[in-house]
Amino acid sequence: MINLIDTLLKEIQEVQVKTAQEVEQLRVRLLGKKGEVTKLFEEFRNVPAESKKEFGRRLNELKNAATAKIEELRQNLEDSAGASECSFDMTMPGDTFELGSRHPISITREEIISIFKKLGYSLAEGPEIEDDHHVFEALNFPPEHPARDMQDTFFISNGVNPILLRTHTSSVQVRTMETQKPPIRVICPGRVFRNEAISARAHCIFHQVEGLYIDKGVSFADLKQSILLFVKEMFGPDTKIRMRPSYFPFTEPSTEVDISCNICGGKGCNICKGTGWLEIMGAGMVDPNVLSACGIDPNEYTGFAFGMGVERIAMLKWQVKDLRLYFENDVRFLKEFETSI
Ligand code: DAH
Repeated sequence: MINLIDTLLKEIQEVQVKTAQEVEQLRVRLLGKKGEVTKLFEEFRNVPAESKKEFGRRLNELKNAATAKIEELRQNLEDSAGASECSFDMTMPGDTFELGSRHPISITREEIISIFKKLGYSLAEGPEIEDDHHVFEALNFPPEHPARDMQDTFFISNGVNPILLRTHTSSVQVRTMETQKPPIRVICPGRVFRNEAISARAHCIFHQVEGLYIDKGVSFADLKQSILLFVKEMFGPDTKIRMRPSYFPFTEPSTEVDISCNICGGKGCNICKGTGWLEIMGAGMVDPNVLSACGIDPNEYTGFAFGMGVERIAMLKWQVKDLRLYFENDVRFLKEFETSI
């Protein structure tokens, strides 16, 4: 039995552990209820009387050694955990998170929408993958009509009613008139697609906002006043508008709207190419053929429509000279608009 005490003592001196769990296992194995040291204490009563003194002394020595070792191992583990925590320098500057900013196109689109919402317009949206009926046919572009060449189209399928990527948001006008009864007052923002070579002034993907107002007795004067109110909100209270006669199959009469140049105030500069005016949108009175095609009686109702490019409005507002910047997502460019939110 003395031999066993010696073996255990030796083992205790040499034992090495890596985790707190191993320390606990060691404690249970030696000092637990059924532990080896505990068992030796139980056997103490069987030891002959003459050996009791010596055996008792050795046994206590063993118990103390085991208790001390376990405590030492625990302490070592705690110290090394503490040491690794302290290796972190709390005085080092922290990592900063780069905050993103909203895209100028989103900012502009939201601003356009919020102005028209104040005039009682509600939001309408439609699909980007459309059919010929909603993009052309119902908007008074007959098949083979040369006006279709105004918009170079990406076709997806041929057939009676070809599928295509919408070239303008005017398709949402059609969807709205087909499903709602007048009075209708909607603003329709969305992405549009045209088969154009990408340059500083043209892109194959861009954004438009369309407006449509249909009711009894809506006149060209209403259109003019609504647009004037919009441009004053968007470009400042001194902004003037000019309407030039134009042609769109879906409006009669049609007009293109210019604003007085917000850089030179109309005197003429290189932004407005010396004219004092900047083109911002197309508009007109909804053609009676369009109303009929969408199930609205043109003898009872009239209406106006307008459509503008969001990139164009943003370019004029912030003097962005190259359309491609909007798509490159260079954060240095995007950050310039942070303060506009
Ligand atoms: N859809 C036309 C375009 O993309 C813009 C436009 C012009 C929309 C006149 C209209 C409008 O609603 O009345 O060029």
